[in-house]
Amino acid sequence: MSHTPHVANPDRYSKDIYRRCGRSGLKLPAISLGLWQNFGCSTPMERMRDIILEAFDLGITHYDLANNYGPPPGAAESYFGRILRKYLKPYRDEIIVSTKAGYGMWPGPYGDFGSRKYLLASLDRSLERLGMDYVDIFYHHRPDPETPLEESMSALDQAVRSGKALYAGISNYGPDATREAVRIMKALGTPLLIHQPRYSMFDRTPEQGLLDVIGESGLGSIVFSPLAQGLLTNRYLKGIPEGSRITHSEFLKESQISPTYLERAKALNEIAKGRGQSLAQLALQWVLRDERVTSAVVGASSVGQLRDSVASLDFEPLTADEIAAIEPYAVHGTEKA
Ligand SMILES: NC(=O)c1ccc[n+]([C@@H]2O[C@H](COP(=O)([O-])OP(=O)(O)OC[C@H]3O[C@@H](n4cnc5c(N)ncnc54)[C@H](OP(=O)(O)O)[C@@H]3O)[C@@H](O)[C@H]2O)c1
Repeated sequence: MSHTPHVANPDRYSKDIYRRCGRSGLKLPAISLGLWQNFGCSTPMERMRDIILEAFDLGITHYDLANNYGPPPGAAESYFGRILRKYLKPYRDEIIVSTKAGYGMWPGPYGDFGSRKYLLASLDRSLERLGMDYVDIFYHHRPDPETPLEESMSALDQAVRSGKALYAGISNYGPDATREAVRIMKALGTPLLIHQPRYSMFDRTPEQGLLDVIGESGLGSIVFSPLAQGLLTNRYLKGIPEGSRITHSEFLKESQISPTYLERAKALNEIAKGRGQSLAQLALQWVLRDERVTSAVVGASSVGQLRDSVASLDFEPLTADEIAAIEPYAVHGTEKA
């Protein structure tokens, strides 16, 4: 692998694809790149590098990580850190890196959920793997039913005060816990920046109160799995391709390619075709139709997929008629396609 620093595309900021994150001073690209899958030990280093560099050249300034992304857990941070140091070091001030803690990371009672002990130790380990002095956003990855919210939030507050994170966020919190987290962080003097919920045409749970809390609180939001892990793309319309996520991930199952799914996905694909775009592009424009959504964080297993997803930002927004036409095929509530 070449060690030459990357010379970034001089036109990377020619399109204004940035949206303000709630009522904060930070803007995020409307599409961000997530490193949950496809950035572990089974992916060639060159492919990871090419996707990360292509993102930056397209103006995608935000990379989303977590302590447990890999496999194995931690690998995505290590690879990303190496790639950043080798190729993008001069551009660090143009990049927003996030990481998270909240899922199981190491054995024993201090390697999971939301204690102050776990969150702050995990952030230190993330910074070591990334080879960075600070991350831009540090998230509590999921609510902890046992730890008092005050304790988890005070750990986020300390992460920011110590300079190890610039902003704090929460992920997978429901509406009530989000409201409470906002209140606590405001009182601590470190306002929460952002929420990261799952949201797509196939999982509209955030419409049941969470987006309202996000809007009222002035939080930004970055929605994950906006392509439903590939279900809202052309990937599975004609079978299960070799190397696709279903073939190697425990998080997406062959049983999800049901007749109902295919019926919905094909109907949505026809609507996309009518707009001259891909199903992935339609799905991304659909989540971004709501101004309370700051960014959609996509995964990509190739440079081509990333380009296709980012090109969704070149299309005119969906019209009210198009949104209405999508409605019968977009699943409501927690029902899954
Ligand atoms: N906070 C949380 O709890 C949480 C949970 C999950 C994810 N996340 C974040 O959200 C990010 C995205 O999640 P995700 O990977 O599930 O998102 P996704 O964007 O819904 O799915 C990504 C997958 O869709 C396929 N794909 C992507 N772009 C495509 C295109 N243009 N055309 C055709 N297929 C395309 C690829 O599948 P193949 O691999 O089959 O090619 C890719 O791996 C993660 O990396 C992570 O940063 C956060």
